[in-house]
Amino acid sequence: MQVPLLDLKAQYATIKDEVLAAVSEVLESQRCIGGPKVAELEEKIAAISDCKFAVGVSSGTDAILNSLMSLDIGVGNEVITTPFTFFSTVGCIARTGAKPVFVDIDPKTYNINPALVEDAIADITKAIMPVHLFGQMADMDPITKVAQKYNLAVIEDAAQSITSTYKGKKAGSIGTAGCFSFFPSKNLGGIGDGGMIVTNDEQLYNRLLIMRNHGSKPKYYHKYIGGNFRLDPIQAAALLVKLPHLDEWSERRRQNAAYYDEKFAGTVVKTPYISPDCISIYNQYVIRVPNRDELVAHLKEKGIGCEIYYPVPMHLQKCFEYLGYGEGDFPEAEKAAKEVMALPIYPELSEEQMKYVVDCINVYFI
Ligand SMILES: Cc1ncc(COP(=O)(O)O)c(C=O)c1O
Repeated sequence: MQVPLLDLKAQYATIKDEVLAAVSEVLESQRCIGGPKVAELEEKIAAISDCKFAVGVSSGTDAILNSLMSLDIGVGNEVITTPFTFFSTVGCIARTGAKPVFVDIDPKTYNINPALVEDAIADITKAIMPVHLFGQMADMDPITKVAQKYNLAVIEDAAQSITSTYKGKKAGSIGTAGCFSFFPSKNLGGIGDGGMIVTNDEQLYNRLLIMRNHGSKPKYYHKYIGGNFRLDPIQAAALLVKLPHLDEWSERRRQNAAYYDEKFAGTVVKTPYISPDCISIYNQYVIRVPNRDELVAHLKEKGIGCEIYYPVPMHLQKCFEYLGYGEGDFPEAEKAAKEVMALPIYPELSEEQMKYVVDCINVYFI
């Protein structure tokens, strides 16, 4: 049996005609930049995120970069974040000229440990960037509290967590800005790259719009140096077709997670810990196991797709050597990087496929 990590063709088969019609509508209109599809998606993503404003951008990465640039974060500033994340989070901070400052993670949730944030704050700290990893939001109350105490912005990297909640609040709605990715493997994935920023701050919203378009307003007059961060209307059209299915797809991921949780109970496999404060959208189902690398190789041989998110924490990446961190600085992140692996969790998985995954793992550990 084959069980891929993700099966985008299975999802596409269910919405193919609508996607083709929506894309064709954009092509027929020849509104190839901006236009009504982008505006409609912005309105709908703002609404489902309980935010007043949304700005469509070219990727999750550009959502983060635009947020940092629009908050005037750059050379001479520091931004506190987690070392256990996708490169984009930290790459964007560094690209503005600001210095990424790491604090270790909570080993249960893999999200930033809020108890460590205050000690990392310096005079030049401008923002905290929690990452809502694998579909579960970070512990936002203590982060918000410390941010308010030191007057810092909070940029939520919610690339993996659209519509997930913390104490009933939606991802992206708690911080100064929230950043989503529509990378095809996300719960709401486009047919290419795309992203969005949500905020309740009208001043920031206006700046994000200007920065998305090279920092120009009016046209050809540049008060700021921005970029081309625009969301493609073809992506917006496809995402509008997928959006009504998002809750149902996330629910199916939760059901699949519950199946795995039950079958791995009492075994050496450590299943994901979801805080009682959170509802996860399970963008990934990440387990911790002994002999992780051998198990990954074994499952691949058995036709099961699995992936390691993330094998090298950011403070140990070659390109961030200049930050001066070393092995042992963030032991929980380093331990997680050696022990975690993601299993297939996508909504279209059959019970037969999940049973096969569970059996292969449980037999391996006997
Ligand atoms: C945590 C995190 N941050 C940022 C990004 C960047 O998003 P994108 O790939 O759309 O640029 C991703 C996704 O790939 C991500 O998982």
